[in-house]
Amino acid sequence: MTNMLEVTGLTTTFSKNERAFKVVDNLCLQVKKGESVGIVGESGCGKSVASLSMMRLLSKNGSIEGRIQLDGADLLRYSEKEMQKIRGKEIAMIFQEPMTSLNPVLTIGKQLSEGLEKHEGMNRAQSRQRVVELLTQVGISRANEIYHEYPHRLSGGMRQRVMIAMAIACHPKLLIADEPTTALDVTIQAQILDVMKKIQRELGMSLIMITHDLGVVAETCDRVLVMYAGQVIEAADVRTLLRSPKHPYTVGLIKSTPHNAKGLKRLHSIAGSVPTPDHYPKGCRFAPRCEKVMPICLEQNPPLLDVDQQSECRCWLYRENRESTAVNG
Ligand SMILES: Nc1ncnc2c1ncn2[C@@H]1O[C@H](COP(=O)(O)OP(=O)(O)OP(=O)(O)O)[C@@H](O)[C@H]1O
Ligand SMILES: [Mg+2]
Repeated sequence: MTNMLEVTGLTTTFSKNERAFKVVDNLCLQVKKGESVGIVGESGCGKSVASLSMMRLLSKNGSIEGRIQLDGADLLRYSEKEMQKIRGKEIAMIFQEPMTSLNPVLTIGKQLSEGLEKHEGMNRAQSRQRVVELLTQVGISRANEIYHEYPHRLSGGMRQRVMIAMAIACHPKLLIADEPTTALDVTIQAQILDVMKKIQRELGMSLIMITHDLGVVAETCDRVLVMYAGQVIEAADVRTLLRSPKHPYTVGLIKSTPHNAKGLKRLHSIAGSVPTPDHYPKGCRFAPRCEKVMPICLEQNPPLLDVDQQSECRCWLYRENRESTAVNG
């Protein structure tokens, strides 16, 4: 399988009060055609900024370095006008807040038709028929009625289905879903993930699933990257990561998922919080919270090391691998 997306050394810097902060630091990521890759990590670790960078949708104070290749084309070389043609058509995104991405004064039908008329050159009758098909495809049973509804009249789960329909309308090669189910209750969440998996299979689409929930990753992904304070700290296929996590942070994340807490009085939590980009520590960014911290961790940030055939990990516990493997970052 060839790579649909190849991100190399993606670094996103925001400037604020004449100071610059690296919010995403040297991210490398490959997604094959039809593959699903999860990006997981606590709030503030740079997941949304990484995905907005890939879409080239940053606010003015943000800048991007590195390379983002979609199906062989370098997205960072495109002008904004060219990117507008790519967004929605080649690469689509489901945003973290569905209500902020749906226009409250336009009907669902109107909003979904827009992209089809713009990117696919359909006329009104063709786009209407296609919108109804799309709404049905994402599991909305009264598609003809929903076509005429306004977003605020729909439940959270329905709105998220509409967002999926909108994202897949033009058959993108890559879909980035940023916490698509966070705001939903567990039953609806499972239904939405099922719809996404089904559609991904049908369209042979590549998927990046951004979430703080390892349960969502286990359900939907082939591979996963764990991010911490702007950096990837572990990367592996999902089974390996869940069965044999390498980084102490990943071990903590797995212990703190509700599934693993059955029978325990309190859910495990990792003490402390993710440092903000203006307060990254000198050594390993996780060291202040790490149960296995060693003197070197406070001095030097470890590179991403190949632990074995299956996992890469940014942790000095695996430093004996350093000499024998290619060092990445
Ligand atoms: N436009 C911006 N200007 C300056 N800093 C920003 C900007 N957008 C995000 N940040 C900072 O970048 C860091 C990463 O934010 P991001 O939204 O990517 O986190 P996240 O991993 O998506 O978190 P969550 O799980 O809460 O969605 C945060 O410290 C945030 O304050
Ligand atoms: Mg986010």
